[in-house]
Amino acid sequence: MQAIDLLLQRRSAKTLTEPAPDEGALELLLASAARAPDHGRLRPWRFVVIRGAARERFGAMLAAQLQRVRPQSTPESLERERQKAFRAPLIIVVGAVKDAQASVPMIEQVLCAGAAAQNILLAAYALGFNGVWKTGAAAYDETIKRELGFEPADAVVGYLYIGTEADACCEGSAPDRWRERVSYLGA
Ligand SMILES: Cc1cc2nc3c(=O)[nH]c(=O)nc-3n(C[C@H](O)[C@H](O)[C@H](O)COP(=O)(O)O)c2cc1C
Repeated sequence: MQAIDLLLQRRSAKTLTEPAPDEGALELLLASAARAPDHGRLRPWRFVVIRGAARERFGAMLAAQLQRVRPQSTPESLERERQKAFRAPLIIVVGAVKDAQASVPMIEQVLCAGAAAQNILLAAYALGFNGVWKTGAAAYDETIKRELGFEPADAVVGYLYIGTEADACCEGSAPDRWRERVSYLGA
């Protein structure tokens, strides 16, 4: 696939299933992430790979988070939350470990990690897989951050759910009216 076609076609997956990227493909996704623009060469991005049986543990973390913030949650809603871990065979958590001493503004360090996340989605699409970027309360919860190896000051920029699209037939949304959001500074 031509790179420009990839960029013009990419859209998020609705339903993801096996197969997940194998070891070699996963390496390509992560190596692509590391090519993201990186102000100051701080390499603020960190990746946590969750797959196979580890999704049970991640699902338990999601359900426990819901239980903590909404102790009155029903068993059904807790189970729904737990099942989110099984939306795809592979989850890559992308975080930004920010360096407060660096001259690069913190927001730019987070943006670098965001760019790395987008590179992962694009690389997955290029390899014939697809994914979807999610955040939700789990991205901002201190306990989950710690369980994933982050500090509270770090940013979880996204949970990238990746696998093979179950229903790749369906068109994405119509092309955005992006021209409306472009202006040209006059000479
Ligand atoms: C930082 C970020 C966080 C997001 N979090 C969520 C989320 O928690 N839940 C969700 O349904 N979509 C979320 N999205 C949006 C989807 O990933 C997706 O981009 C959106 O549904 C539009 O679909 P498209 O990518 O096919 O245009 C998020 C996107 C970004 C960039």
